[in-house]
Amino acid sequence: MPPALAAHGLEKRFRATTALAGVDLSVEEGQLVGLLGPNGAGKSTLVKIACGLVRPTSGRAEICGHPAGSRAASESLGYLAELFRFPGWARADEVLELHQRLAGSDAGAAERSELLDLVGLADARDRRVEAMSKGMQQRLGIAQALVGDPRLLLLDEPTSALDPVGRRTVRELLEELRRRGVAVLLNSHLLSEVELVCDRVAIIAAGRLVAEGRPADLVRARGVEVETDAGTRVIAEAGREDAPRITAELVAAGERVYGVRVLSSTLEDVYLEAVGGETS
Ligand SMILES: Nc1ncnc2c1ncn2[C@@H]1O[C@H](COP(=O)(O)OP(=O)(O)O)[C@@H](O)[C@H]1O
Ligand SMILES: [Mg+2]
Repeated sequence: MPPALAAHGLEKRFRATTALAGVDLSVEEGQLVGLLGPNGAGKSTLVKIACGLVRPTSGRAEICGHPAGSRAASESLGYLAELFRFPGWARADEVLELHQRLAGSDAGAAERSELLDLVGLADARDRRVEAMSKGMQQRLGIAQALVGDPRLLLLDEPTSALDPVGRRTVRELLEELRRRGVAVLLNSHLLSEVELVCDRVAIIAAGRLVAEGRPADLVRARGVEVETDAGTRVIAEAGREDAPRITAELVAAGERVYGVRVLSSTLEDVYLEAVGGETS
């Protein structure tokens, strides 16, 4: 099966600005991938190219094997833009109905109630957008993106405007989507979000992919810290597997060991290193 998203050598220049400087990225079927990076890194541009909204200067993107922008590609994906806004007067059910028409879905009321149920808005189907919290609107936005049963969901900063409770709800929703086998590319500048939920993380900075992998593989060992009569020191090149030997050697050398701690970097360390300390 072709990947849900495959980007090959994507470049995008807006006059003097290089938004993407050659990015290769894939999202396999059913995978939840976090695209992390500071503001202006090129995340939204990459997602817009995948949607067919922006044409790359060079390189190409494919959705489930179809060229981005083609009808078959558009039918395979759902998209929620970063700063979307539904009309305040529209009711939840109407928003979905409109998007069914836009997406050419003929799945009718059954699809709408299933989606409202999925995002926890079953009781709000007749509620107007203007009477919804930001978190509810965000979940309605995700329901909208799922109209037509896409294989790939592209979410641009879906939790950035939410409070911690709203974030957790969206996270749980993403986990449910993974169980259902929907592939997700999640743009975020919020590390913790991505760390908690994603199978893989790609970090981009200034239009380039600077790190990529499973969160657990990206966080590296950073040595072993030992506390003895002589004080506390770090044996930098050591890892967890070295801890028993180090302890035994210290004891054999007559030192009294009060503590041994394996140090590892957090995803935050990896991120800061990868983006060169740039903040978002
Ligand atoms: N339509 C556009 N015209 C000109 N410059 C743009 C346009 N869209 C994005 N850019 C620029 O491209 C760079 C990457 O932007 P963007 O993809 O929105 O980054 P991110 O989503 O990571 O914050 C930024 O410097 C931004 O100003
Ligand atoms: Mg963006």
